[in-house]
This record gives sequence, C-alpha cells and structure tokens, in this order.
Amino acid sequence: MIRGSPTGAALDARLRGELERFRQDGIYKRLNYLDSPQGARVVMEGRGDVIILSSNNYLGLAYQSEVVAAGKAALDRFGAGTASVRFICGTFTVHRELEAACARLVGTESSLSFVSAWNANEAVPGTLLTEHDLVISDQLNHASIIDGIRLAKAITKCQTAVYKHADLADLGARLAAAGDRQVKLVVTDGVFSMEGSIAPLPDLLEVCRRHDAVLVVDDSHATGVLGATGRGTAEHFGLEGQVPIITSTLGKALGGAAGGFVAASAAVCDYLTQRARTQLFSNALPPTVAASALASIEYLEAHPERVTALREKARYFREGLLSLGFHPLPGETPIIPVILGETAAAIRMSDLLLDAGVFVTGFGFPVVPQDQARVRCQVSADHTRDDLDFALAAFARVGRTLRLI
Ligand SMILES: Cc1ncc(COP(=O)(O)O)c(C=O)c1O
Repeated sequence: MIRGSPTGAALDARLRGELERFRQDGIYKRLNYLDSPQGARVVMEGRGDVIILSSNNYLGLAYQSEVVAAGKAALDRFGAGTASVRFICGTFTVHRELEAACARLVGTESSLSFVSAWNANEAVPGTLLTEHDLVISDQLNHASIIDGIRLAKAITKCQTAVYKHADLADLGARLAAAGDRQVKLVVTDGVFSMEGSIAPLPDLLEVCRRHDAVLVVDDSHATGVLGATGRGTAEHFGLEGQVPIITSTLGKALGGAAGGFVAASAAVCDYLTQRARTQLFSNALPPTVAASALASIEYLEAHPERVTALREKARYFREGLLSLGFHPLPGETPIIPVILGETAAAIRMSDLLLDAGVFVTGFGFPVVPQDQARVRCQVSADHTRDDLDFALAAFARVGRTLRLI
C-alpha cells in the first residue's frame, strides 16, 4: 500500500473538503465520457447517442476524413513527435507548412505554432514587452490572456491595465494616460467566448492608431467562423491585413485537436522563436496534430461553403430559441448563450437537457459574472436541420418544466 506523507494527507484533506463544498454548492464539474468522435451526435458513456451543442467543432472538421487521414499519414512519416524542443533537436517540415498556412489564412506575413493557444497568448506579452511598456486588456478577455498578462507583469515589470468590456472611451482614456510608455499593447478577444459577441474591431484599430498602440486579437472563436471565408474577425469587418498580431487556436474550428499560433510580422514571429519561454522550453506540436490542422486549413480554403452553412445553421437555431420564448444574448456568431441567473439553475437546465438527449454545458460564477449563469449553445456546420429541431424540441420541453417560457 502506498502511504501519503503527513503533509500530503493534510493537503488531501483540505482538497476533499473543498471538493465536497463544490458538490454541495452545485458547482462540481462532472466529466462526461464520450466513446465516439466529436460529431453533431456523440456516444456518451451511460447515455448513448446525444446531440452535442457545446463543442467548438464549428466546421465539423474534427472527424473529417481528410483531416483524420492527414494525421495518420504524419504519424507514419514523422513518428510520434520531436522528442525535444524545436531549436534543440529540429523542427518537422510539416510545422513550417502549417505556419505558412496559418499566416496565409489570417493574412499576416508570418506565424509561429505553439502546443496551445494558451501558450501562444502567454508568449505574446511576456516575450515582447519590457518594463517601459504597457498592456491593456478587455475586461472579458479569455483566461489565457489574463494569466499571460499577470505573468508578463511579474516577469518583465511592464505596466498593466484592464478596460471596460468593448468600451472605447475607457480604452482611449487609459491609453492617453500612458503617453510615456514605449510600447502600448491592447489585447482583445475577436469573439468573446461566453457572450458570442464580436469585438468592435474598426473602432479598436482606430483608437490604437490614434495612440500609437499595437492591437492583439485572439481569434480563437473567430478563425473558421467569421468572414465570408472563415478568416476571422478582420475578414468580417473587411480589415484583412490590418491587425498587427493575431493569436488563435487549432483546437476549435481547425480540426479541434490542439495547438495554437501567433500570426504577425516576420520580426514578431522570429523574436518569439528566439525568446518565448513556451516555445524554448516545451516540445513542438505533435506532427499528427500539425498535419491535421494543416489539412483543416486546406479544407477550409477549398470549402468556404462550410462557413456559410455554419452561419445559416446558427441563425436557424437562434431564431428557433427566440420563437420558443427564450431570450438568448443577441449576436450573429454560433455561440448562443441563454442567461439563467443562478449557477444552480444553469446546471439544472443542462442536466434536464442531457436527460432529453442534448449535451449543452451550464456555466456559472466564476467563469461568468455573478448572477449571469447560462447555458451556452454552440452550433456546428455538422448539425443537420433534424439535429437542430430535435434540440429545439428538448429546449421547449425543459423550458416549460422550468417555467422559463
Ligand atoms: C478565446 C480563447 N483563447 C484561447 C483559448 C485557449 O485555447 P487552447 O485550447 O488552444 O489552449 C481558448 C480556449 O478555450 C479561448 O476560448
């Protein structure tokens, strides 16, 4: 029998107490195990077939045959991985091809891949800034941006600030007050993941221009989703090539495996290659994943109609919810949140929907602000009209049971 040390026992006891409190407060996250690929319907252990409305598989590429085949071929050609970091033991040619494709897709000179968008977001402020600089972040930015900035502050002693969500006057005032800073970085999500809203990119670029600031857009929920051909927030607004630094994930629309990238000028990407700690001290993306992501980008480039289909399906589902009497947050992305208030109410709705064969996650505090707990629906191009009608019928039944409609 393996025995914990006295210190380990005390830690375990504390954690068990906290876990019990999570359960009592109804905020304990239960993992649901799937025994099938991510498609519009998945096989959930203990439940069977359910429709999934909580995946980031926006374009339905996670199980696309070309994407799976590319991963298999890369496994045969390159083996399991680099077995070290890129600058030490070599980088596979598929990484170079992937990085060229990412830059081409989002319209920048260059790009650099990371094992996650989290790592990419962490690399940008911590590597590019110094104690003479400032980084300002939207209040509702993703946790990876928030933590990346916290780390940058600790490492570089750069100045940091947060501006009110999408509030250009607040951003402008903060930039004006920071006139003496050498570099001013402004960071925003392109699409805010819990709201489904789109950042006001034209105005953000204008404020940044006025204050000589550099805009960073995290397009993780916009790549493959926004714009006529899925090139992201910049394409949505007709501003391709104008965002200096874009970060994004390969773990959502672009195949859904894992990985992320920074797309920017050649100087930014080269500097990150030289100095980003999440690049220098961590293995590269596995070649299977790099090849699947590359095949996803090529698929997207050849099939822009997938993006149109996604948009139409998201609109259909949103209108369906509205006509049932729900009040989803307004928007035009495939992220469609229904606000319920209490965390326990969101979790209860999610449980009842799962009983009805629809897998959609409830989110509460601290992931979203207090009293704004929600179920967040995410539509995929893979959903058929029948899938969406089935889900809407489940929402109608559960909504009536909970007296929401
Ligand atoms: C806006 C945003 N940025 C970054 C990430 C991190 O992505 P990854 O899973 O590639 O680390 C996510 C994932 O949830 C996200 O929603």
